[in-house]
Amino acid sequence: MPAYISSVGHYVPPEVFDNKYFEDKIDTSDEWIRERTGIIERRFATSGATSDLIVPAVQQCLEKRGITAEEIDLILVATITADNNFPSCAATVQRKIGAKNAWGYDISAACSGFMYALATATSMVNAGVVKKALVIGADKMSSILDFTDRNTCILFGDGAGCVLIEHTDDESIGIKDTILHMDGEGGKFLYQIAGGSSKPASLETVENREHFVYQDGKNVYKHAVVGMAEVAVRIMERNNISPSEIAYLVPHQANLRIIDATRQRMGIDYDKVMINIQKYGNTTAGTIPICLSEWYYDKKLKKGDKLILASFGAGFTWGSIYLIWGID
Ligand code: COA
Repeated sequence: MPAYISSVGHYVPPEVFDNKYFEDKIDTSDEWIRERTGIIERRFATSGATSDLIVPAVQQCLEKRGITAEEIDLILVATITADNNFPSCAATVQRKIGAKNAWGYDISAACSGFMYALATATSMVNAGVVKKALVIGADKMSSILDFTDRNTCILFGDGAGCVLIEHTDDESIGIKDTILHMDGEGGKFLYQIAGGSSKPASLETVENREHFVYQDGKNVYKHAVVGMAEVAVRIMERNNISPSEIAYLVPHQANLRIIDATRQRMGIDYDKVMINIQKYGNTTAGTIPICLSEWYYDKKLKKGDKLILASFGAGFTWGSIYLIWGID
């Protein structure tokens, strides 16, 4: 009796920033960014917080399902840019959408956050702990980007996506398998140096620009390209899915070259990969649910489609989920 995705929604802020925006601020070029990452433009919210990106995504998701926020039992928010360190972004979202019967919490797994949250909600729905779970992946990365650091500021964007998870009696659809990994040894390659309990905010941490994303891009790339491909291939093998059976690979959108390496290892064609990195950059926890929602509302997903989700992110965290799409 599987859990399945019964609705989706997404939101990106309207403000578009193309690669040329960075050219007079840092030593970079449109050509370098396109070639090395695949990104052409991204969205940055010029006002509001992460919850303000989430609310419209949730409204679209609930409207499509035809339910009110009061029917939600659980809210999981995968994010590294919650409105505040506490209370949780889930609590803020609960208040803003009026989901007064829901409990919930945030999940911190960076770019794999949505995968971790989806796996958690699936287990809770399967166990009968909750009936309707909202799983949200959202980040306002512009709030932690150093716009003087060319290694990081060109890579990310702001956005939110969400799915509704419910139980179904239809065994032919639903979330079928999950593989998740973590390796804390990778923490030093991608993190926020200050602002946590190891290095609380001070005048010095602000002056040293330690509240922004720090990344050793080469090392992250090296691990991501291996980790994401390996786990996606393994989930195919253990579920006996051939490349031709897969309707879509839904990869985390960090770098087009990482996505392409994963696709090649899986042996699937380019037109079977959800790619929107050129429009939004890396929205961290937002990338995978934004893809699912965009493809669904563009009518490119149909009931029975076999999907492989795959991600890699800070922690390191990575994983893959196999599901069969259940809504037309
Ligand atoms: N514009 C121009 N040059 C840049 C640049 C930019 N925005 N950013 C870095 N460079 C420079 C580097 O300083 C380096 O110069 P050097 O050789 O003089 O030191 C050169 O470009 C090549 O750097 P390198 O790191 O080898 O480039 P790359 O091909 O690995 O691409 C990333 C850099 C960041 C795009 C790539 O490493 C990457 O995508 N990493 C993983 C990112 C990721 O997945 N992050 C999120 C985790 S999910």
